[in-house]
Amino acid sequence: MKSAVLLVLLVAFTEGLVKIPLFRGKSARQALEEVGLYEEYKAQYPQPRLQRGLKLNNVPITYDPQVTYYGMIGIGNPPQYFKVLFDTGSADLWVPSLNCTHYSCGNHARFNRSASSTLQKGDGDFTLDYVSGYVKGVTAYDTVLVGDIYVVNQLFGLTYSGGSFLRYMPWDGIQGLAFIGASALGGTPLFKNMWNQGRITQNQFSMYLSKSVEGSALILGGVDEQYFTGPVNWVMVKEEDTYWTIQIDSITINGNTVACSGGCLAIVDSGTALITGPTRDIGNINGWVGAYQAGGDQASVGCSNVGVMPDLVFNIGGNAFHLPASAYVLQHGTSCQTGFEYVPGSWILGEVFMRHYYTVFDVNNSRVGFALAV
Ligand SMILES: *[C@@H]1O[C@H](CO)[C@@H](O)[C@H](O)[C@H]1NC(C)=O
Ligand SMILES: *[C@@H]1O[C@H](CO)[C@@H](O)[C@H](O)[C@H]1NC(C)=O
Ligand SMILES: *[C@@H]1O[C@H](CO)[C@@H](O)[C@H](O)[C@H]1NC(C)=O
Repeated sequence: MKSAVLLVLLVAFTEGLVKIPLFRGKSARQALEEVGLYEEYKAQYPQPRLQRGLKLNNVPITYDPQVTYYGMIGIGNPPQYFKVLFDTGSADLWVPSLNCTHYSCGNHARFNRSASSTLQKGDGDFTLDYVSGYVKGVTAYDTVLVGDIYVVNQLFGLTYSGGSFLRYMPWDGIQGLAFIGASALGGTPLFKNMWNQGRITQNQFSMYLSKSVEGSALILGGVDEQYFTGPVNWVMVKEEDTYWTIQIDSITINGNTVACSGGCLAIVDSGTALITGPTRDIGNINGWVGAYQAGGDQASVGCSNVGVMPDLVFNIGGNAFHLPASAYVLQHGTSCQTGFEYVPGSWILGEVFMRHYYTVFDVNNSRVGFALAV
């Protein structure tokens, strides 16, 4: 824990930007595969379940067993440090409570209420249902430290029980970065409080998800040009008070529409590992790139084919965002799979997309910007 605390303090400052380093751990899937339990755990949560308290039908998958990036935050006074998933697909903050003796809290840092002088009680119990499980807890308010930014009176959840996958997640809790309409706890999300409390000079943040283990970052208060080349191409957000939802006009390969014919909505979600979409569209894309579905969720390809596989092109707001096979094929041991998955509801552009495109989440102008990541 001590080394993690030191890393939090190594925050860089560039013209009002606060940079939070993101680390890449072993995904829960990897950890469970190593102990031969992945299929068993997955069988417990076969169907996406709706998150309670949400008005929308689209279900962003947070708490995804394949995500690997996380950063540090401090909660309370003095701060107690947690590894959190910075999740643009949800809006709440929660971490395990010290009183959690449940299996899901094993391996994780837990918040000691009596050790914080600024903690205030919340309204009571909550349950959040995620695709890969659930968490149950109580709400509270306290100071949250992100980099060198203090946000006071932040509503958050302290969990005392949760789905079994949680034990193997590389992070302790989730820090949501979506809008208030997506908050299941019903409070002002952290980034909005940060802005309301005057802690940042520009009302936007951005994310660089590195292709390697090191070097990823969440940038609060703007854009850091060292992480991309070329222009930032902007796309308007469609549902301004819930998720980072954008309109995709079509998805093409060599000029042929292979998915999202006639347009579709997509959520830009750092809490989802893959690109997800409806069954027929994902099957079609896999067919076009020469991948075959041999059981499991993701289609397989020969690793040596990556060099000859076509770009997948997302046509969004007049711009063509190319995703080369080197970005959408994921190597898993000695085998390769495409980073596409069938999930009902909106499309989700997860880490597979965001590793290739540095992404700017511009609250001030209700838009998302994509630029070619370095
Ligand atoms: C932890 O605290 C919550 C809220 O006070 C309570 O509902 C729960 O039963 C407690 N859990 C344990 C394991 O003590
Ligand atoms: C929680 O904090 C209190 C107050 O600082 C302390 O006395 C107690 O030992 C802590 N509990 C644990 C398990 O660390
Ligand atoms: C908000 O956006 C407007 C229009 O692009 C810009 O002029 C203004 O500087 C921005 N303000 C902040 C605080 O980001």
